Parts: sequence; C-alpha cells; structure tokens
Amino acid sequence: MDLYEYQARDLFEAHGVPVLGGIVARTPAEASAAAHELGGGLVVVKAQVKVGGRGKAGGVKLARTPQEAADAASQILGMDIKGHTVEAVMVAQGADIEQEFYFSMLLDRAQRTYLALCSVEGGMEIEQLAEERPEVLVRRTLDPRTGLDAEAAAAIVAEAGFPEDIADEVAGVLVLLGGVYAAEDATLVEVNPLVKTRQGRIVALDGKVSLDENADFRHPSWGALRDDSKADPLELRARAKGLNYVKLDGQVGIIGNGAGLVMSTLDVVAYAGEDVPGRPRPANFLDIGGGASAQVMADGLDIILSDPQVSVVFVNVFGGITACSEVAKGIREALTQLGNRASKPIVVRLDGNAVDVGRAILAEYAHPLVTQVATMDEAAAAAAQLASAAMEGK
Ligand SMILES: Nc1ncnc2c1ncn2[C@@H]1O[C@H](COP(=O)(O)OP(=O)(O)OP(=O)(O)O)[C@@H](O)[C@H]1O
Ligand SMILES: [Mg+2]
Repeated sequence: MDLYEYQARDLFEAHGVPVLGGIVARTPAEASAAAHELGGGLVVVKAQVKVGGRGKAGGVKLARTPQEAADAASQILGMDIKGHTVEAVMVAQGADIEQEFYFSMLLDRAQRTYLALCSVEGGMEIEQLAEERPEVLVRRTLDPRTGLDAEAAAAIVAEAGFPEDIADEVAGVLVLLGGVYAAEDATLVEVNPLVKTRQGRIVALDGKVSLDENADFRHPSWGALRDDSKADPLELRARAKGLNYVKLDGQVGIIGNGAGLVMSTLDVVAYAGEDVPGRPRPANFLDIGGGASAQVMADGLDIILSDPQVSVVFVNVFGGITACSEVAKGIREALTQLGNRASKPIVVRLDGNAVDVGRAILAEYAHPLVTQVATMDEAAAAAAQLASAAMEGK
C-alpha cells in the first residue's frame, strides 16, 4: 500500500523524524485556514497524488499569504497529474533550503535484502540520478536483522560525502528513517529531498512510503490510511470477505485454488483468447486458497458474477487439500443463492482430491449454465469461445 505524502509526513513525525508542519486541505478555504494555522507565513501547497513528478507538473506551489495558498490550492485541486486527479493538497510550512539530498531505503527483492540509497545531490528523480550521476549515488545493502543502525548510517553518510558539520545529524535522521521502515513494516521509505535549511536544520521535505500489506494484521492503524475511494468496489467487497482477488480488465472471470494455478490459468486463458474473435482476456485473479469451503467458493463466484465486464466464468480447481466435492457444493450453493441473477455460463474443470464426487454433484445438479470440461487447456478454450461469442453478440 502506497501512502500519500501527508500520511508519510505524519508517520515520520510520529517516529521523531524532523519534518515541517503540514496540513491536508480539500478546498481553497481549507488551504487558507491551514496556512493561517501554520503561522500565516510562507507555505508550499502540494498536490497529494500517489505518483512522482508533481513539482514538474505544476503541483507544488509557493504561497506567501493564506490568500495565495487558497489561490494555489484552487489551481492545483482538480489538476490531472499523470492520470491522477488531485483531490487534496498538503499545505506545508515553507523551508529556507540551503542544500537538497536524497535518501531511500527499500526492499531489494532480487537480492533478498534491504537496500539504502543516498546522495548529497537531491531534488532530481532517482532514476535520472542513477543514470546521469551514478558516482554520487551510494548503494548499501543492509542486513535485515540489524536494519539501518548507527553504524550503517555513519558508513552511508561518510561514503556519500556529507559535509562534516552535518554528518552526525544526517546519520541520526537516517537511523530514525530506518526505524520507520522497520517499525511500520515498510517496503519503501524515500525522502527526496532531505534538506539542510539555512538555519542548519536537517529536515525531510518530501516523503514516499509503501507498506507491506502482508503485515497488515499487526497494524490495526493501517485501516485509516487506506484510501477506499480509489479502490475498485469489487476488490473492496472481496477484501471484506477475506478473498484474494485482483480485478483485471478482461471478460473471463477466473477462480482457482492456489496462486500458482491461478496465475497459470490467467496465462492459458490469455493464450486461448488470442485464437478467437474479440480476443477475450482474463477479468480477474481470484485464489480461493487451499482447503476452501463451499462458502468461500460461493462468495468468490458471487463477486465475479457481479462484475459487469465478465461474460463467462472459468473455475479451475486441482484438489490437493481442497476437495472437489466442496468446490462443487460451493458452485451449487452460489447458483442457488443467486437464482436469476446468475446469467453467465460457467466452465468448470475439476481434478484431484474427491474429483469423482465433485463431478457427480455438478452432473446431478445439471444447471443449464454449468459446463464441465476435463482438462485445463480444453476448459480455457471453451471459456474463450463463450466470451468471444458474447463479445461478438454485443
Ligand atoms: N516545504 C517546502 N518548502 C520549500 N520548498 C519546498 C518544500 N517542499 C518542497 N519544496 C521544493 O519543491 C521541490 C519539489 O517538491 P517535492 O519533492 O515535494 O515534490 P516532487 O519531487 O515534485 O514530487 P514527487 O516527489 O512526487 O516527484 C523540492 O525539491 C523543493 O525544492
Ligand atoms: Mg520529491
């Protein structure tokens, strides 16, 4: 989960990272009030969107008075930045910047470790910095067991070449940022720019934080950070049911057990779709997991069938822990509950644990929308055909 800058600012503050005052505003009047609250002096009005390059797009503006803050907010609110509409701004205290630096700490999946990146040249985007000035970008892998401790911070600061008079203070701020990373189960903490003010303070002026959603069970407070207004409504419903669902943009709804099987199912459906008119594609990822009950199956089917983009559903289950008999009961359950609302064909491929019982349940149920197919490839081809026919029929 990516955070907005103002949320990152609040997290930093909670962990003792030096930041400037910042107040979120959703109207020009709120922006003016926020500027007053921050003392009525120089502020910066900043677009709150989860995408980089806001400054260049005109989404960061200086304002000397509360009235100017309101004017800046009215220009920025509603602006489109790389496809993201600005619905809020942060009114931040203006800093008197002497120098800008770069710092980030992230999960390096390829190396299976943490990585810190740091440079005395900040402000520029990191990709550009890495390309144009690789020699001034320090990269240091961090042992996840110790994280960014004082020793690592001191080494980073020395290697990056921070001026001596601020080296200790910068190192201290890096340790605090490492603390945010660890305590908040982050996968990214980026500060660009980290600045030295003319008053000699080190301050995090812009923060980007991503949190590892696998850890959300131990962070009840994350619920408040989630921005449900931007989430897909089907994904929200699936999350409420505890389902592992991701909305995609195709027409073939997909349910399987096990992330690996579901990923392969997406592939075979996409390949099968290339051979038929309209080129139907997968409509979602849905993994009902191992040992799924009839109720989980029914919940999943309910969500997929209510996706207006879906014209056919492919249920692909290889029973290991999951019993095909439960899956078959779940399909029967869902169709019985949905009644007339179920109006889309369902292609079912069952194999493995209790397959005979599962197939027999569906055969006996003999629902006109359900077709059983023996293999995954044939089932994918059948689903693609049905989706194609529905697309051509429109
Ligand atoms: N509170 C502030 N006071 C003074 N100047 C600021 C302040 N916040 C930002 N700036 C200036 O504006 C520049 C851009 O701000 P910021 O880094 O927040 O946005 P951005 O980098 O354009 O956006 P993103 O990080 O999303 O790409 C900074 O490099 C800094 O020079
Ligand atoms: Mg920035």
